Amino acid sequence: MILFITSNEGKFKEVKRIGETFGVEVEWMKMEYEEIQGSDLEEIAIKSAELLAKEIKKPFFIEDSGLFVEALKGFPGPYSSYVFKTIGNNGILKLMEGVNNRKAKFKAVVAYFDGKGVRTFSGEVHGLIATEKRGEKGFGYDPIFEYKGRTFAEMGDEKNEVSHRRRAIENFFRSIAKDRSRTQ
Ligand code: IMP
Repeated sequence: MILFITSNEGKFKEVKRIGETFGVEVEWMKMEYEEIQGSDLEEIAIKSAELLAKEIKKPFFIEDSGLFVEALKGFPGPYSSYVFKTIGNNGILKLMEGVNNRKAKFKAVVAYFDGKGVRTFSGEVHGLIATEKRGEKGFGYDPIFEYKGRTFAEMGDEKNEVSHRRRAIENFFRSIAKDRSRTQ
């Protein structure tokens, strides 16, 4: 069993399902925590985990992700959460009106506190910004992020097979499985 600290139920559900395919049981610690502002996802995740470690004192992980739009020079990137809450998907679509280069990526960083120190694992998925919102599933920017012709919000659980979070969590779970087999 491993603790996942997040206030986002959508994220927890995705990670729990990914854990099931790896035989790792993920427990939800529903909690808002202070997210340090910064220009780099890794740095933000490490600093946030170090702050939390002072309180939690047992192994846990957090995950921080962002949407990086090429034509917007990587915006909203580390500011994705704030931008989603303010201008949202409609705002991003507006910024992208008339823009031909629609390339974008999601990146996820997992920061894992193993009781002693913090380690990070990352994952990315490349796609396009759609021209309009499509699909009802998922959360956040899912309705405007298109992967191989469908938005993440149209893909439902299939998103979990290819997402940035899937890739970061997979790297993480593989690494802890390796650690466990070494110490057994
Ligand atoms: P955070 O990692 O919770 O800080 O997420 C940053 C922002 O990106 C939030 O507004 C999330 O809703 C959004 N976000 C993170 N992961 C995803 C995803 O898988 N799909 C769509 N939006 C996401």
